[in-house]
Amino acid sequence: MQLLQAVFLTVLVACVTAQLPTRTQKVPEIDQRCMECLCQASSNCDESLKCHNAGGDAYFCGPYVISWAYWHDGGRPGDKGRAHDFETCLNNKTCAEKAVRGYMRKYGRDCDRSGAIDCFDFARIHKLGFGQCSSDSILDTDYWEKFEICYIGYAEDNVASNYGNNGNIPVNYGNNDNIPVNYGNNENVAAPYDYADGQLQARRVHN
Ligand SMILES: *[C@@H]1O[C@H](CO)[C@@H](O)[C@H](O)[C@H]1NC(C)=O
Repeated sequence: MQLLQAVFLTVLVACVTAQLPTRTQKVPEIDQRCMECLCQASSNCDESLKCHNAGGDAYFCGPYVISWAYWHDGGRPGDKGRAHDFETCLNNKTCAEKAVRGYMRKYGRDCDRSGAIDCFDFARIHKLGFGQCSSDSILDTDYWEKFEICYIGYAEDNVASNYGNNGNIPVNYGNNDNIPVNYGNNENVAAPYDYADGQLQARRVHN
């Protein structure tokens, strides 16, 4: 009976430990290197890019290719109550970055379940919005390739459709009892932006 209790407690503690990081995680400030890579991924950071219709109701502005709704949720920087304030802001790189910071502060989350909220999550959120940011379909896009080349120096062969083919990934997930432990450690590592090799390595394992 005592053994059973001990086992139960161990499992309980493991579950709680595994869950805590995602629930209590603070969203780090997006740093300038990450910001530049969002800009590269979005438009090759073309500061001459103004507002354009992208079909349907889609209307995006500036080098970060941001919509009115994104700007609004990002805290409406440059809002002086005039109809075109959002366009003026978004077409100005510095002002657009305020919207990105505001948006990430509000919606930052661990989209890829890596255990940390980092630039990989911000890149997903920037493109997909916070609601859809867990979708791995983004890994197949030019946007993601540009982001990786900018941010880690090369494009990983992490095409979403390869996920199913890579036997190692599911096996590692299933068998590796250390994963929850690693999650805990990552959080400790999380001096907010430590893109040390170790962290990128961990990222590759997760991806
Ligand atoms: C661009 O935006 C920044 C920050 O909002 C502002 O300080 C600056 O004056 C703007 N630049 C131009 C040319 O409007």
